[in-house]
Formats: sequence, structure tokens, C-alpha cells
Amino acid sequence: MKKKLTRFDLQQMKEKGEKAVWMTAYDFTTAQLAERAGMDMLLVGDSLGMAVYGYPGTIPVTLDQSMYHTEAVRRGAPNTFVIGDMPFGSYHGSVNDAVQNAVQYHKKCGVDCIKLEGGTRVAHIIRAISDSGMLVMGHVGLTPQSTGALGGFKAQGRTAEAALAIMEDAEAVYEAGAFAMLVEAVPPEVTRIIAKELPIPIYGIGAGVDCDGQVMIVSDILGIFQAFTPKFVKKYANLGAEMSKVFEAYIHDVRTGKFPAEEHTYRMIDGELRKLTALRKKGHSKGKKQ
Ligand code: KIV
Repeated sequence: MKKKLTRFDLQQMKEKGEKAVWMTAYDFTTAQLAERAGMDMLLVGDSLGMAVYGYPGTIPVTLDQSMYHTEAVRRGAPNTFVIGDMPFGSYHGSVNDAVQNAVQYHKKCGVDCIKLEGGTRVAHIIRAISDSGMLVMGHVGLTPQSTGALGGFKAQGRTAEAALAIMEDAEAVYEAGAFAMLVEAVPPEVTRIIAKELPIPIYGIGAGVDCDGQVMIVSDILGIFQAFTPKFVKKYANLGAEMSKVFEAYIHDVRTGKFPAEEHTYRMIDGELRKLTALRKKGHSKGKKQ
């Protein structure tokens, strides 16, 4: 049976130069297949807003929605390190509310850690949640919950000043007690410095190869997500096109009487049809008085 990784395993992997591989998952079956394939971690990202619910971004996602999906992922991958993503609004009020929401996420879904977006701005929240005994993963660079403020889904840290601001954010997240951090859509030159200078595991999405591991959105690597494909995505399949072909073939088969065929059909036990015909003749058919 696969052994679930702990924060100490992840830390050791960084120290040994071994890459951790993770992706998002939002449902039981995907989680089960990912665990069987040997995925190190699964993130129930608030990207589910776009990937599953069809919202234009992550902002509308609620804590309840995140928790429903996380419970399914936990059931599908009981031996995988599962990260719960705190959605927008779940840590933007008081520190106490943020801690209570993180507690609820842990209690209901059995996550191994929670992730939240932001740097210096959220350091006090990270501190309070980790002081309560929960593992927190930070997320700096492009933070999709702030795309309004950032001017869209754009690469971050491409100028010296912007890069310095991201490094300060990363430092603040580390100092606040995060055990690991995700860096998104940032030039590799910047991520390399962060991963070298901070002792905790630094994971990347669109942040180059010099991280301690990579995460991808499942619907991107499968080629299912239709709205847009960021530059940093590698599509390992084009399941969107395959799915469309399957749906068209199914529609065609039903409309032309090709499906269901004999092999998809349950037949009556031998001799029972004759009995049924006799019963009906005697007036036993449904709705008829005897
Ligand atoms: O919500 C999400 O899926 C994320 C990705 C950027 C990994 O945070």
C-alpha cells in the first residue's frame, strides 16, 4: 500500500533534491487514479470554480463547495497528502474566523494542510493558523484570488522591483510558519533564488524547473479545460477532443438504433416470456381486473 507523505518526507525530498509531483483533483475517481499512479500530493484547488463550476475565476467559490469536493478526494486517495485550498472570503475577515474556517476544513475533510494565497498581507493569518497546530502552505506570485488587483492572469515578478516584492512576500510567508510554499507564474530566475534561500519546500506552477516540485491543474494536463491554456501548461492528452468524439458517437448510435445492442441487454429467463404471455391472456396484466 502507498505510504502517505508527511511534511518531514517533503522536507527530506527537498534536501535530497527529489522533486515532489502534485496536481489538482476535485472528485473521487480522479483522486483514486492519481493515488494509484503514485502522485505525491493532491490539491483541491479553488480552480474548481473554473474547472468544475464554469465560473470566470476563483472568487465565487465557497468554503462549502471546497469542502464537498475535498471530502470526495479524501475518500478516493486515503494514502495521499491532500491540500485544501482556502477559498476567497474564508480568511479575509478576522483572524479568529480564518482559524475557525481552517479548523472546520480539517475536521470535516481530513486534509493534511491548507493553502492560502498572499504574502506579507496574510502573514498574521498564516501565523495564527499554524500556531493552532495546522500545517499551512503559502502561495505567492500570481495569486488568482487577486487577479482584479493584479490586472488579470499575468506573469509576476518580471522586473527587479516586482521580483523583490515577491521575495519579500515569500520571506514573510516562511517567517509566519508556512511549512511549504507554491510560487505561481514567476520567472525561473526569481524562483531559483527563493528555493535556494528558503529552507522549506518551494513548489512551482509556471515558475520554472528550479523548484522542489511541480503542480498542474488536472483539467489542463488532460486537455479538458476549454476556456484558455496558460503558457506554462503541458497537455499530456487531448481528452476534450476525445470526449466530444465519444458524445457524438453515442448520440449517433442511439438515434440510429445501434445502441443498445444485444450485449447491453438483460433477457428474461428461458420460458418466462411464454408464462408471461399466458398470464396476460388470463387477465393478469397490470391494470386489468381479474
Ligand atoms: O486553485 C488551484 O488550483 C491553485 C493552482 C494555482 C495550483 O492554487
